[in-house]
Amino acid sequence: MDPFVFKILTTAAILRAASGGVIPTFAGPWNAWVERFTTCSEDDKRIFLKISHFNPSKKYENQVWNGFMNVTVEMDDTWWSKGVLDVRSNNQWKENAFVFFFPKNGCSGAREILTEMFSKYFSKKGTPCRLVKRCVYFENTTVAHEYPRFPIMPYGYYRLKITAGVTGAQEPQYCLNMLCHIIPKIGS
Ligand SMILES: *[C@@H]1O[C@H](CO)[C@@H](O)[C@H](O)[C@H]1NC(C)=O
Ligand SMILES: *[C@@H]1O[C@H](CO)[C@@H](O)[C@H](O)[C@H]1NC(C)=O
Repeated sequence: MDPFVFKILTTAAILRAASGGVIPTFAGPWNAWVERFTTCSEDDKRIFLKISHFNPSKKYENQVWNGFMNVTVEMDDTWWSKGVLDVRSNNQWKENAFVFFFPKNGCSGAREILTEMFSKYFSKKGTPCRLVKRCVYFENTTVAHEYPRFPIMPYGYYRLKITAGVTGAQEPQYCLNMLCHIIPKIGS
């Protein structure tokens, strides 16, 4: 098994099945498309993104992003980070379908699990992890979602909440919400 995935399953994160029973869906190789990506609060203006609609008849076309994500506080491995995926089932969100929690080394954890698209904003793998202050702009940027760490996922409609904060602080410095769809891998 991939050593990183092994680490996730053992120490760095908690991965558990949705509470309240079996998710009625199929799992397999997948692609994702994003419906919405925002901060958790309307007062937090650090993300402004217009993401093109996904066109099911043009599945091969990646979505186009316009806008920005503003990294206002530098993040490093003294931080924690967490990703919680809720899945839509019977018109309800089943919370905590998947949970990734990095109580320490939150920067490295995030750098590992994010796509190439986002991991490029972190310092290079093999060097101490840092997400530096900057405003990242997207101008007709095509975004491919590839998560080679997770080859198989249950298909469905997901709500992903990403939080990160300084060690010892309960309140996150960052809180992001993404609505996305996981669909069978295009072309397979
Ligand atoms: C990004 O954040 C910095 C620091 O808070 C601020 O000065 C800047 O105006 C922000 N940029 C955008 C596009 O909101
Ligand atoms: C982005 O794409 C739109 C529509 O294709 C085009 O009108 C616009 O000029 C493009 N903007 C940039 C910055 O390339």
